[in-house]
Amino acid sequence: MLKISLKLGLYIFSSIFLLETVSMLYLHNHVIQSRINQELESLKSRGNSHRDVLELSYSEGTLKHIGLMESHTDTDVVITNSTGDILQSSENINAEMKTILRKTLPQVPRKGLIIQSSWKDQPYIATVTPYNSDNEYEGYVYMFKNTGEVEELIAQLNKHFLFATVLLLFFMLIIIYFLSKALTRPLIGMKEATTKLSEGNFSVTVPIRSHDELGELAQSIQSLANELNYLKKERNEFLASISHELRTPLTYIKGYADIARRKDLDVSERTSYLEIIHDESQRLNKLLDELFNMAKMDMNTFTISKETVRLASFLETIHEKVLPAFQYKKMQLHLECKEDSSIDLDPARFEQIMLNLLDNALKYSNENTVTTIKAERLPGSINISIIDQGVGIPDEDVPHIFDRLYRVEKSRARNTGGFGLGLSIVKQLVEIQGGTISVRSKLNQGTCFTIIFKGDH
Ligand SMILES: Nc1ncnc2c1ncn2[C@@H]1O[C@H](COP(=O)(O)OP(=O)(O)OP(=O)(O)O)[C@@H](O)[C@H]1O
Ligand SMILES: [Mg+2]
Repeated sequence: MLKISLKLGLYIFSSIFLLETVSMLYLHNHVIQSRINQELESLKSRGNSHRDVLELSYSEGTLKHIGLMESHTDTDVVITNSTGDILQSSENINAEMKTILRKTLPQVPRKGLIIQSSWKDQPYIATVTPYNSDNEYEGYVYMFKNTGEVEELIAQLNKHFLFATVLLLFFMLIIIYFLSKALTRPLIGMKEATTKLSEGNFSVTVPIRSHDELGELAQSIQSLANELNYLKKERNEFLASISHELRTPLTYIKGYADIARRKDLDVSERTSYLEIIHDESQRLNKLLDELFNMAKMDMNTFTISKETVRLASFLETIHEKVLPAFQYKKMQLHLECKEDSSIDLDPARFEQIMLNLLDNALKYSNENTVTTIKAERLPGSINISIIDQGVGIPDEDVPHIFDRLYRVEKSRARNTGGFGLGLSIVKQLVEIQGGTISVRSKLNQGTCFTIIFKGDH
């Protein structure tokens, strides 16, 4: 497997390399071409100025003079008459020069003509300029330049180009090395973190180095790790509490069973012990039922079937159902539902929610207090509250009461027979129906649970 930093580096390298090669080649050709053009132009203008001198004063002396001038430069001159006879030359004429001189000339413009420009395969570049002195003396001024010099110049140029290319590539490699490392480092960090997560090690920290997409990804992985860590901790705590919850009734059952087995007990004593055993087994049964319910909800196998119900009559049935229990404890239960809205919910599950909340209100209130079921429609939502005047919940416990197996006072709940599961089930049931539940409470004054269903009903 090719490492990502190497891959990234290779991609950047090959694209820059390609770009560099193309632009270098272009630049190289362009520089050489313009250099050659320059040489040709200057050769031509040199020929032109010889022509000017010749036309000014054509004489044997001038011809000689021009030949002499060119014999001390890196260019050569050949002056011919109109029939091609050589009148003057600055150098001995060699074979290559002769072939150029023998070329039949087209109409040569006054400003001169390039007759040999290919410097690569020919030993000379050459231009020609016509002269005409007083319509008497006519002919051509040929200018030659040895391409050896041009080639030398170009070789020099190539050396510079090569050096620049190598230098550029070298720095590019260094930059790419660090760049790809810097770019891939956060990715590698995240990969390591997720590997650890998949191995079950949830206490990982992913450094968040930037505020871009990579930073966001790192942030998400970190939240995932935190969440998993929290879930693992919660599960362990939950299992510990569950086993504790199971053990307590079992200890009672075993203890009282041992006593009930004694021969010297009279019937009423034995019956009361058996009663306790019966109660405790029922408690166990209830606990297992609720746990089973909760497990079902966690697996999302819990199906809800929503129907449109008329809220007022629905709440009235519940009110009737629980009223005897409140009356038995000398408490009042009021129902306040002015308008008859319709609402989409799962009636069975919603009844379970209400019964749980009303059960709490009943359990955690004293005699002669009032509990109110209140339903009201607000713009955009329907709020259903259960308000009691009971013992209330201490502020520090409020954030936890929806946790599984959480009870404010362990001993108090034991007397009232609760497990601390009711509210966690309520919360899940409310949420799978698309609602939210919140609580406000004042110690010794009362508690208010509010369920909110958003939307226009
Ligand atoms: N209306 C209330 N007034 C005062 N305290 C409350 C009220 N409702 C809940 N609580 C507190 O919150 C805790 C959690 O409530 P929850 O309904 O989850 O458990 P429970 O009633 O103890 O047991 P379960 O509902 O499983 O039988 C309770 O133990 C109680 O201390
Ligand atoms: Mg309860």
